[in-house]
Amino acid sequence: MRLSQCHNFHDFRRMARRKLPAPIFNYIDGAADDEVTHRRNSAAFDSCDLVPKVLQGVGEVDLSTTVMGQKLALPFYCSPTALQKLFHRDGELAVARAANRYGTMFGVSSLGTTSLEEARRASTGPQVYQFYFHKDRGLNREMMARAKQAGVQVMMLTVDSITGGNRERDKRTGFAIPFRLTLAGMSQFALKPRWAIDYFTSGGFRLPQLDTHVDMGRGTMSISHYFTEMLDPTMSWDDVAAMVAEWGGHFCLKGIMDAEDARRAADIGCTGIVISNHGGRQLDGSRSAFDQLKEIVDAVGNRLDVMMDGGVQRGTHVLKALSLGAKAVGLGRYYLFPLAAAGRPGVELALELMRHEVERGMKLMGCTSIGQLTPENLRFR
Ligand code: LAC
Repeated sequence: MRLSQCHNFHDFRRMARRKLPAPIFNYIDGAADDEVTHRRNSAAFDSCDLVPKVLQGVGEVDLSTTVMGQKLALPFYCSPTALQKLFHRDGELAVARAANRYGTMFGVSSLGTTSLEEARRASTGPQVYQFYFHKDRGLNREMMARAKQAGVQVMMLTVDSITGGNRERDKRTGFAIPFRLTLAGMSQFALKPRWAIDYFTSGGFRLPQLDTHVDMGRGTMSISHYFTEMLDPTMSWDDVAAMVAEWGGHFCLKGIMDAEDARRAADIGCTGIVISNHGGRQLDGSRSAFDQLKEIVDAVGNRLDVMMDGGVQRGTHVLKALSLGAKAVGLGRYYLFPLAAAGRPGVELALELMRHEVERGMKLMGCTSIGQLTPENLRFR
């Protein structure tokens, strides 16, 4: 299968599946428990329909938006995700460069395999730093200072992961960090020798945001176990208020699902929130971000920038979220499968396809700017 045969999310996913060892593919593809929330995330977009207007004169369409002070050429961005060098040897740098080319935002994760500084040098566009609040307060302080020093524009604290989701696919495959080739997993990797050669010639596994403070010794742990062991479940609104004050710039909470929590985020000075259930990877049975969007925009849309992520696979999904008041929409698996399939050219093709779909959809909707999309464009069934 070649990149030229990829026309949508499903094609990229298929190509990634052929390239990746099964434990790694399933780490990306999988979610918590019965994966009900994961499936609902995409299905939620089908619960309503777009109502187009015609004869509006749509020769020029402006897809730009501004979130948390950052001007984006496109109303979607690459959400920070972990462990990208396991998916492709160029990892975070491929994503940073692709996002830069398309004029949009990307993020480096606390669990990134490239340092936030190196990623910063790969792009002139807006960069977020995805923060996990660790039990080790020294590590937390160091990560904030490094992000500030590097010129990261937006601090994004994930608040839905104080304990690990039940990811049964990872349990079955034994997927763990630091990533090592175990005897048990060998057969899976032997089936994908090209991936294995690529990975093992690319410099080995590192977590440069963490390795000054976290010593995993000779052990390994699942991602779920990592959350439970390393992150601080006592994290409270007071802790976050202190972080917001210390950061002194754009600060965003990722993983807000409740309108009252959204109000509290605004009260403590956050300039953005991402409505998210972590791609269905944490609390299965949780509502989808799209289903919660209107309620939260009604509560705080005039106080901070509301974004959402989860299940976005199509330009029309983006249009529906923007119609309900999202300022921008985050992509996760949507760019990770292309990364795994083909590195930077894969991510660029995925962004290009999404850009086309959003632009085409805007024209067919009779809209020339993002601001013209309103709840009036939508009808729920
Ligand atoms: C995950 C984390 C690391 O969902 O964001 O696997």
